[in-house]
Amino acid sequence: MFNHKIIETNATLLLVLSLLVVTVGGIVEIAPLFYLENTIEKVKGMRPYTPLELKGRNIYVREGCYNCHSQMVRPFRDEVERYGHYSLAAESMYDHPFQWGSKRTGPDLARVGNRYSDAWHVQHMIAPRSIVPESIMPGYPFLAKTPLNYDKIADHLKANRFVGVPYDDAMIENAKADLEAQANPDADGGDALQERYPKAQIRDFDGQPNQITEMDALVAYLQMLGTLVDFSDYEPKQDYR
Ligand code: HEC
Repeated sequence: MFNHKIIETNATLLLVLSLLVVTVGGIVEIAPLFYLENTIEKVKGMRPYTPLELKGRNIYVREGCYNCHSQMVRPFRDEVERYGHYSLAAESMYDHPFQWGSKRTGPDLARVGNRYSDAWHVQHMIAPRSIVPESIMPGYPFLAKTPLNYDKIADHLKANRFVGVPYDDAMIENAKADLEAQANPDADGGDALQERYPKAQIRDFDGQPNQITEMDALVAYLQMLGTLVDFSDYEPKQDYR
């Protein structure tokens, strides 16, 4: 009682002691994190995006798709029944910046890969209401007409490596060739691409074999979403249900 009075009537002492308390509290919270090996649980199958997928991802960000679409299935029964297995932290570990989003004007896209055909996506992107009459999604018909600019794709991979994405030298050296190989099933280099990026899907995504468009990149990205981790052999360290 008496001691408290000393502290409460002395502003400097109160300040110093408050700082001390906050510092100790802060250290207790933060220090253990430095001793954790990894805060993200490792899962089989996650790999960096292929150059074409990365380009598609850029278009996704550029067009602001995240304003209406999230990419995170939350661990609730209604979400898991609608979209599939809840999202794992590792599934967005190579996203810079991540695309979790907080607005769902349209459905979550974290697991949209392989759910529709390429032709469905192309038509839906060009004119959403021709497929879903009640859709309020804007059309993006210009994507199918705009040639993809990938001159600087190797630099783009390098920038991602700088922030921690494990692109190796061969991936950076072959970035341009890999991008072209993924969009053209007749090109050589498909095997090398799949060696570097397991499960990479190789197709003419936009249905226009004579050119690589922004639509190719975006559809390649959408068709990959949620397909990398094989959930048939994934066992959570902890049961979250
Ligand atoms: C104004 C909000 C809005 C924006 C912006 C938007 N969408 Fe959508 N999107 C929707 C709505 C609403 C739906 C559901 C109706 C439909 O399928 O068209 C949808 C559906 C979709 C679907 C089908 C998902 C499913 O599981 O059926 C995909 C894929 C998609 N959008 C991709 C995109 C991409 C890629 C972009 C950016 C280029 C984008 N959207 C931008 C609102 C939006």
